[in-house]
Amino acid sequence: MLNFNPFDDATRRNPFPLYAQARREHPVYRHPDFPIVSVFRYADIQAILRDPQTWSSHFLPPPGFDPEQMPEPSMLGQDPPQHDRLRALVNQAFTPRIIRRLEPRMYEIADELFDDILEHGEVDFVDAFTYPLPVIVIAEIIGVPAEDREQFKLWSDAAVADLGTGLFVPPTPDRLQRIRNLLGEMDVYFSALAEQRRRHPREDLITGLVQAEVEGSKLTHDEMLRMLVLILVAGNETTTTLIGNIVLELLAHPDALVQLRAEPERAASAIEEVLRYASPVQLDPRRATRAVEVNGERIDAHQIVISWLGSANRDEDVFPEPERFDIARTETRHLAFGFGTHYCLGSNLARLEALVALRTLLARTRSFERTSDEPPPLHPSIVFRGVTALPLRLVAA
Ligand code: HEM
Repeated sequence: MLNFNPFDDATRRNPFPLYAQARREHPVYRHPDFPIVSVFRYADIQAILRDPQTWSSHFLPPPGFDPEQMPEPSMLGQDPPQHDRLRALVNQAFTPRIIRRLEPRMYEIADELFDDILEHGEVDFVDAFTYPLPVIVIAEIIGVPAEDREQFKLWSDAAVADLGTGLFVPPTPDRLQRIRNLLGEMDVYFSALAEQRRRHPREDLITGLVQAEVEGSKLTHDEMLRMLVLILVAGNETTTTLIGNIVLELLAHPDALVQLRAEPERAASAIEEVLRYASPVQLDPRRATRAVEVNGERIDAHQIVISWLGSANRDEDVFPEPERFDIARTETRHLAFGFGTHYCLGSNLARLEALVALRTLLARTRSFERTSDEPPPLHPSIVFRGVTALPLRLVAA
């Protein structure tokens, strides 16, 4: 019997034995306490994510909720063809050039943060590094003043705090009101910036979004606001979690750290292995648009199905010795950034930020260790697997 409760803290810290059991015995699992079906095998998950006609990203309001009351979904919550139009428009603005251009600046920011860290010696590494690096970078890409960073943190934290919970337990009217208030605040902020850029274009993402046009179609003002909020929220917490997980896995696997210090050119492949082995985003939900079978199990129309990316990434049918952390692994087809239509828009940016972070950590330190044996606090959302604080002692190189 599988007993998989995604809200259980011990399970969230180490879900992997349960994932392995689920893949073997219950690849399609009906949760006894929630109206949710979970799917655990790589092949099933890939098939779901590659078929947006059958598996919608657009969730219906819970019973009893007025659709008018629900916040307008961003691109992440839309299906083709609406999704593809938005994605084509954002692709015009969020270009590889914008990211490449920022690379030297990313090293500068990382070095400045390390100057402070090494001066103190002991820090909360989340506070001192894994949080500020992505938020400074995304603020510069979007084109917002650096002083507004603290406000960004408040918004991002509020937006993702209980992300995913609504899939299992319907949101309360109070929670919906809080989301609407939050979106309202962000809208006011970004509206003012967009208005400035219409009059005085700059080389930044807001200007790109204001100007983007595909086949005569432009983003409406509301669509642009939804997109900025999505990028702000999707880009921060995820990358913070990835960089934290890199540090945690290197501490848990000292041999890998020794190998990496001897061969720093393996940094990019070490990052792929952390994405696979300790995926920052563990789950990816879809709604069945019709009755359908998954692995021989019937799924009714409108059923919410959760794909456990963290389990797919440990699937023995794809990854030899999947429970081994191996920074030299050659099979790297992990699903940490999703798959198909909604494949992560920011994957290249996240990879580059992680590389800058890891290279700077290796270059600037002789050693680093945890200062407490207590398990670090878990991220409050079940979507993420990572920590919100990581006290470290770091010794300069
Ligand atoms: C380690 C870091 C990151 C991880 C693990 C991650 C993970 C993901 C995943 C799993 C999806 C697919 C969701 C789905 O299938 O419904 C996704 C989509 C998305 N991500 Fe990321 N992400 C990361 C960083 C970023 C960054 C830095 C940005 C922005 C700058 C970003 C922006 C987006 C957007 C806009 C989407 C929606 C794409 C669409 O609907 O077409 N992500 N991400």
